[in-house]
Amino acid sequence: MTQVTNTVRFVLDGQIQEAVGVRRTTTVLDYVRESLHRTGTKEGCAEGDCGACVVLVGELAADGKTIHYIPTNSCMQLLPSIDGKSLKTVESLQSKDGKLHPVQEAMVTCHGSQCGFCTPGIVMSLAGLSDTHAKCGTCPSRTQINDALQGNLCRCTGYKPIVDAALQAAPTLIADATEAELLKQIKRPEHATVGLDGQTVIQPVLRTKKGNEFVSPATIDEVAEYLLAHPKATLLAGSTEIGLQVNKQFSRPDHIVYLGNVAELRAIKESATHWTLGAAVSLTAVESLVATAYPDFAEVLRRFGSPPIRATATLAGNIANGSPIGDSMPCLMALDATLVLRKGAATRKVSINAFYTGMKQNVLQSGEFIAAIELAKPNTGVAFRAHKVSKRFDQDISATCCAMSFDIKNDKFVSVRVAYNGLSPYPMRAAKIEAAIEGKSFSQITNDLIDDAIAQSFTPRDGLRATWAYRSLVARNLVMQFLEESTSEVSA
Ligand SMILES: Cc1cc2nc3c(=O)[nH]c(=O)nc-3n(C[C@H](O)[C@H](O)[C@H](O)COP(=O)(O)OP(=O)(O)OC[C@H]3O[C@@H](n4cnc5c(N)ncnc54)[C@H](O)[C@@H]3O)c2cc1C
Ligand code: FES
Ligand code: FES
Repeated sequence: MTQVTNTVRFVLDGQIQEAVGVRRTTTVLDYVRESLHRTGTKEGCAEGDCGACVVLVGELAADGKTIHYIPTNSCMQLLPSIDGKSLKTVESLQSKDGKLHPVQEAMVTCHGSQCGFCTPGIVMSLAGLSDTHAKCGTCPSRTQINDALQGNLCRCTGYKPIVDAALQAAPTLIADATEAELLKQIKRPEHATVGLDGQTVIQPVLRTKKGNEFVSPATIDEVAEYLLAHPKATLLAGSTEIGLQVNKQFSRPDHIVYLGNVAELRAIKESATHWTLGAAVSLTAVESLVATAYPDFAEVLRRFGSPPIRATATLAGNIANGSPIGDSMPCLMALDATLVLRKGAATRKVSINAFYTGMKQNVLQSGEFIAAIELAKPNTGVAFRAHKVSKRFDQDISATCCAMSFDIKNDKFVSVRVAYNGLSPYPMRAAKIEAAIEGKSFSQITNDLIDDAIAQSFTPRDGLRATWAYRSLVARNLVMQFLEESTSEVSA
């Protein structure tokens, strides 16, 4: 038997903090406010939308000296998932001699706060940006500041003074070298632990007397083994869906398997033709990976949630969750991505286009999970286009997102792939639209042709986000726009 300490250990402002006897589903926000009495961090929505709860969570970087911090919605993150990491709350910013952080100073000078409810979250988002820029010796641009604030809602002040404050504040590191040393002391194991009688011990963080537990494996083999033994266990990746279930539906899974400490699942491998993205790779990492190869995909991801959502959320979590308006899936479908599925020692590959079987239904078997996503690198001459239409530009859910890939041979569109979210019970390719376009030149493709193909492909339904009339119009216009723009590019 392993020793279960039932203690979550993390570094907080130059000290190792031990949270003893917390529940599997205690959120970082609840612990910070109720146990640490750090009430600067606020609860607004408890669903990742308002940013009042933003804190910074850090991990030791590969150099073993610096700490890489990400902004995090503490309302969505479960406390055991920060075991072995560093935490910074708004109270961490003021130095011992009472000096404010440059972002705080600038917020005062620029009148960036009124009622102040949003202010700690805004300050933490900007302090995270400031830390990142201090490490590379640059100042953030207005666009980078606007992006960093995508997930922070302020109802009183207006964003101009807040952005002015961010432009004025000098980039500043948030942690010193002592914190990196402390992180080394509480680092979680990087290899599977083997018990006295040779069995693999899957790293528990917390376990109740009833045997319910939060485990944090170090290897993919451990994840596979644990899921065989506990096929109903809940996989926890970025927690941006699970956190909602905990907060809003009071979900209390018996067994939680955290994927964030499995190095193999966090890795991006590269071959001549493909990238293989481990299932725990964050959307932020995917966004930078595809920025040059597939700029439209990167733009869809830039508008996915907000920086704290993207910093933790994963592609695999988006795929597994299978929402009809999931944003990454149309892109992955148009790019014909392959999912690497693992069950026990067995691995199989399934095209993402064959993954869904119904609304939130997929081909995953009991005890099986997504281990990786294979994404082809661009082929010369093949166009990839994608665009998300939503009521707001930032931090909003799609009315529809359309992604297309195609080649142009002798002025004709060939190898056409079109995929949407928001038009059907799960994101899907539209074979009839593809067939309507295949082999035709742009002058042969009319609005009516695409409208007919849309009508044949989907069952009309009005939704909360948009009417069918709106969605189908947008679906047609996006296809026409992508085709027209690529034709004019070719003929230009
Ligand atoms: C404020 C907010 C904004 C959002 N904005 C968007 C948006 O713009 N577009 C969009 O599409 N979505 C959005 N989402 C939804 C969510 O962020 C995404 O679905 C995200 O990709 C989920 O990933 P995760 O790693 O956080 O998943 P988690 O919450 O950790 O898990 C989600 C589900 O997937 C399962 N799972 C996780 N990893 C695996 C695996 N490897 N194999 C099998 N099952 C697995 C989990 O058990 C769970 O059922 C938003 C959510 C919030 C709260
Ligand atoms: S409380 Fe609103 S994002 Fe966390
Ligand atoms: S200052 Fe009141 S919500 Fe921002």
